[in-house]
Order: sequence, then structure tokens, then C-alpha cells
Amino acid sequence: MSSSHRVRVSVDVDGTRYVDDVEPRTLLVHHLREQLGKVGTVVGCDTSNCGSCTVLMGGADGPQHSVKSCSVLAVQADGASVTTVEGLAGPGGELHAVQRAFHELHALQCGFCTPGMIMSAVDLLRDNPDPSDAEVREGLSGNLCRCTGYQNIVRAVQSAAAALRAQAELPEEATV
Ligand code: FES
Ligand code: FES
Repeated sequence: MSSSHRVRVSVDVDGTRYVDDVEPRTLLVHHLREQLGKVGTVVGCDTSNCGSCTVLMGGADGPQHSVKSCSVLAVQADGASVTTVEGLAGPGGELHAVQRAFHELHALQCGFCTPGMIMSAVDLLRDNPDPSDAEVREGLSGNLCRCTGYQNIVRAVQSAAAALRAQAELPEEATV
């Protein structure tokens, strides 16, 4: 049974407001990829299991937390703000510390899981800036990697954590 009924959804994605009419059953990940062109967010399963579709989502001005965007309806994101892996880099295109660490420490092979891993790691480090290796593994347990064996991923997250802590300790004038 199909329906032409569509619902208006207004969502802030990577700092830009998008207003679109969507079918009520459209998943957020499909809305991001197909309607908004945010193809950096990928789909790796149809069971809400792999975490490759992870984005950060929160209220308009509230804190964002990681969600699997294949388990959220686009209509549930109405009024929300979303950050995808495409919105992590700084205004001058400089990579986020987590992106840089994944690159420098070879925390990927095929790269398919990487966008979701990075988004989950960003969320983890906001909640816990100085995690143990076990806490990193636990924090990323919703993200599956078929390639790396996780060792380099944990090292990259720890390296990013150290970089972010060092950045947070800089006096304000040194960061501008
Ligand atoms: S695509 Fe696998 S959890 Fe979303
Ligand atoms: S790098 Fe291939 S699935 Fe993780």
C-alpha cells in the first residue's frame, strides 16, 4: 500500500536549515543521503546493527548525541539539529581531531565503517574526555568493523582524546 501523504520536516543539518516534504516512513538516513545529498553517511545493514549510519542529533539548541540514523524516522528529526561526518571539519576545512587521528593512525582499511565510527567517537569523547581503552571499546560497541580488528581504532580515539584535552587546556587567546 502506498500513500502520497507527505509531511513537512524542518531540520538543521551541518549548520544549514533544510525544509522538505517527506513520506512519513522515510528513514533519516535516506533523507540525509537522497534528499539532502549527505552521502558521507552510509548504510551498512538493514538491522540497525552496524552503526555505519551514525550521526549526532539533538534539539535545536540542546546537546547532540549519536544515533543510528537508520533507526530514526525523518519526521522524528523535525525541529532537530543533526551533524553528519561532513559537518565535522572546521570552517577552513581543517579536519576534526578524531578525523585526523583516524587518518594518521591508519584506523581504517576499506573505510566503510569509518564515518559512523568517527561520529560515535566524537560523542564518546564529549561525554568522557579521558576514557580507558575498555571504555573506548564499550563506547564503540554499537559500531562494527569487518576489517581492522579495532586495535588501531582504539589507538586513534585515544590519540584524538589527548589532542582534544591539550586543546581544551590552551588559554583562550591561543585558540583563536
Ligand atoms: S545502517 Fe547499519 S545500523 Fe544503520
Ligand atoms: S575499515 Fe572496513 S569495515 Fe571498518
